[in-house]
Amino acid sequence: MIPALPASEGYGYRPGTSGLRLYCEDVALDELATRFGTPLYIYSRRAIETGYMAYRSALKNRSAQVCYAVKANSNLAVLDVLARLGAGFDIVSSGELARVVAAGGDASKVVFSGVGKTEREIGAALNANIACFNVESAPELDRIDAAAQRLSKRARVSLRVNPDINARTHPYISTGLKNNKFGVAYDDALPLARLTAQKTAVDLVGIGCHIGSQITEIAPYIEAVDRIVDLIEALAREGVAVGHIDIGGGLGIRYRTEENPPLISDLIAALLSRLDSRGQQHLTVIFEPGRSIVGNAGMLLTRVEYLKPGASKNFAIVDAAMNDLIRPALYDAWMDVVPVAPRTSSPERYDIVGPVCESSDWLARDRALALHPGDLLAIASAGAYAMAMSSNYNTRARPAEVMVSGSQAYCVRQREAISELFASESRLP
Ligand code: LLP
Repeated sequence: MIPALPASEGYGYRPGTSGLRLYCEDVALDELATRFGTPLYIYSRRAIETGYMAYRSALKNRSAQVCYAVKANSNLAVLDVLARLGAGFDIVSSGELARVVAAGGDASKVVFSGVGKTEREIGAALNANIACFNVESAPELDRIDAAAQRLSKRARVSLRVNPDINARTHPYISTGLKNNKFGVAYDDALPLARLTAQKTAVDLVGIGCHIGSQITEIAPYIEAVDRIVDLIEALAREGVAVGHIDIGGGLGIRYRTEENPPLISDLIAALLSRLDSRGQQHLTVIFEPGRSIVGNAGMLLTRVEYLKPGASKNFAIVDAAMNDLIRPALYDAWMDVVPVAPRTSSPERYDIVGPVCESSDWLARDRALALHPGDLLAIASAGAYAMAMSSNYNTRARPAEVMVSGSQAYCVRQREAISELFASESRLP
């Protein structure tokens, strides 16, 4: 049986001397396992570029900035690939700002989101001359104004408004409902915008929102844009003009082969036509996509250590675990698991689990696979919120990361050494 192609892009099966083998671009995954070991994160450079260009091309006749959400995957090589294409970046910490700068990103194309920016982080961002702060509360606005005065700078700010829209996604990643901690409450937005205009060292340059992640419909975005444009119009009537609208993150991606989320070009066409019909074609449009640029560009390669038939189900115990990939444990996320060298024998049903001492340490459940100990499996769509959310739980060294470009594979993060994991700890004197 030939397995369906995984949801990931840049990956596919090719025939070899002993059957099919899974490739990333022109490199076979079993060769990567031999060269770099497992578990191993693999990214296709071409898929990342395609993901970014989908936004850029759809926005080509418009004043627009695509600010990649660094949180999705902050590896320097990923940021480097995007910086070379002229991307901006959406950051949520001074750590992410430091990564963008280290990767050759342009700080003047950085927007800074997040509800808890510290004084130190605001100072670092002002010193780097970032494009703008997405302000989420009145006290944050005060803090930015004071910091800018202290540093003799002007701070550009955009208000991140909570439009109270149901994005119909997982509750943990829904951000635009009024019971979420994010954004300025809709009714407080106009008063806060007026206040901004009175601040000493702050310029109001935009208004935006972020309603959630893994959104697979266009309608909630249109609803959100309508609500933001209502505010922009109300401000214009008071003589306050803003230059940009920030629409927040990008579309959700395909995790199952049969899923068909809307195309990025369709989302953007719909949003631009809405802005046009509301007479707002002059606004610069900012997007902060993360998942839709890197999600399907990545896979987590793992090796089967043991097959363990259980009383009620079979387990395939692999060398990757919830510390490497927490999405299934945290969100009950379904991630595609495919064999690197498919077997022709008949499949059995397995739960794919790691060695961590928790029953929540599962990567996939009830999958039909023909497996032997030592086989390689690839977990698809693992480019976003995967390595970026990894931890050292159970004192497990985190995987290496490899970027494939054509027939080349570059190690872009070394596998951690056990000794590094406690190198900054100490015993009592
Ligand atoms: N901008 C802001 C302010 C955000 O909070 C986020 C994501 C993004 C942009 C990027 O959204 P995207 O285009 O990736 O949907 N760990 C979760 C996802 C958390 C998303 C948080 N915010 C997961 O694995 O599903």
